[in-house]
Amino acid sequence: MKNKIAANLTRPRILIFCVSLLSVASVSIVGSVEARLVMYATKQAATTQTAAVAQTAPAEKRVEQVQKNIQVLTGLPVSQLIPVMNYMGSSLGVKCTYCHVNKDGNWNFVSDEKPEKGTAREMIKMVQGINKANFKGNPAVSCFTCHRGNNEPVRVPQLPIAAPTPFAETAETATKETPPTADQILAKYTEALGGSAAIDKLKTRSMKGTWLTGNGITLGYEVYQSAPDRIYTVLNTPKQGVIERGFNGQMAWEKSNRGLRDLEGIEFFYLKRYPDLFKDIKLQGQFTRISFGGKDRIDSKDVYVLRGLGFDGKGERLFFDAQTGLLLRRITSTPTIVGIIPEQVDYDDYREVDGLKLPFTIRITSIDSFYNSTRKFTEMKLNVPVDEKKFNKPPALAPSPSATP
Ligand code: HEC
Ligand code: HEC
Repeated sequence: MKNKIAANLTRPRILIFCVSLLSVASVSIVGSVEARLVMYATKQAATTQTAAVAQTAPAEKRVEQVQKNIQVLTGLPVSQLIPVMNYMGSSLGVKCTYCHVNKDGNWNFVSDEKPEKGTAREMIKMVQGINKANFKGNPAVSCFTCHRGNNEPVRVPQLPIAAPTPFAETAETATKETPPTADQILAKYTEALGGSAAIDKLKTRSMKGTWLTGNGITLGYEVYQSAPDRIYTVLNTPKQGVIERGFNGQMAWEKSNRGLRDLEGIEFFYLKRYPDLFKDIKLQGQFTRISFGGKDRIDSKDVYVLRGLGFDGKGERLFFDAQTGLLLRRITSTPTIVGIIPEQVDYDDYREVDGLKLPFTIRITSIDSFYNSTRKFTEMKLNVPVDEKKFNKPPALAPSPSATP
């Protein structure tokens, strides 16, 4: 197992796009240090939980069960460790090296050598204390509240201070139009997509297009999906050739010129979240509660906002075009010990395909621009047969299907 970790550490150019809607999200492109250590950290977390994860619905391990030196983040689910680290980093405007030791390219996350790591521990405890004492334990105050992208929070107000704008935007509320209910907005969305009959007919979807990574590289991208949650993706990278990934409803895998491997740990949890064919199509039933959350604007469009609470405890805000009824944005908020971690998905370029109206551009924005992505599709087909075998992990020595089309 030690060797496996060591191998991953020295293995060049591995990066993980954990955040990507609909996609089995893992890409390898550039020799990024950050990427490698994410890999390292997730691999390390994953090695002990591989077996559990292969079965259905495993209880997620706590970070102290798989990491070596956890003193304050006890109780944190394994899948939240890297998001939390990213969150602390972006709240302070720093990289992992700010708190962690890297000697000659080798990371030592366990080490307490850097005083900043110790300060961060104190800060985590402080944040927990503030929230417990003042906000019923809700993550009202986070690293970002004070730091706002800086390691040194601003102590003194900077002059001149902008004058408050009196009564801005109140004109709209004064018109007293009755706001639509959540049910009405969701029903209008279903109609805008093409109606429930067309939606219920949806069984498969295949798409071709490009994936623009957070660091500006455009890759060729293909996706094959089968209801409810099976997925197979092909990514064409300039440096690593073809990367295939699949999820057959139970297990997830990746095949590339580095070989064939199971996706585990954090990658698996992300996978479980994204391949759902109906994730953005059938919104009803995804929330324990959902209600109207006001009006807003995106670009120049008026939007209605819905606020929902998912079964996984994550809050969501959904933004619907007031005119067309289509979903324009979805912001998911994951509450963690250090703060609420947002992730935004924007939907654009809706086009009609076989009786349904679906977005051809999907943009993901997260707290770390490294994980951002834009997928643009040029071709989308619904309900054409997809070979179910595609979703299964291929035998180790079989020639790659994309190599022999
Ligand atoms: C602001 C400081 C800070 C930054 C930035 C930071 N970390 Fe951490 N990291 C910590 C602290 C503090 C702990 C220990 C938490 C505890 O004791 O519960 C930790 C623990 C870890 C661990 C667990 C080590 C072990 O086995 O005990 C890993 C892995 C890790 N960090 C990875 C990262 C990665 C990857 C990044 C960059 C994306 C990063 N960290 C950025 C402060 C930071
Ligand atoms: C209530 C406001 C507040 C919150 C919340 C907060 N910090 Fe801080 N933090 C500060 C202040 C103020 C300082 C500077 C202290 C000083 O200059 O002595 C600081 C300093 C730090 C430093 C040392 C910076 C340096 O350059 O030495 C680290 C690291 C740090 N904070 C991490 C965090 C992390 C991680 C979180 C979230 C878990 C967090 N902070 C939340 C107010 C806050």
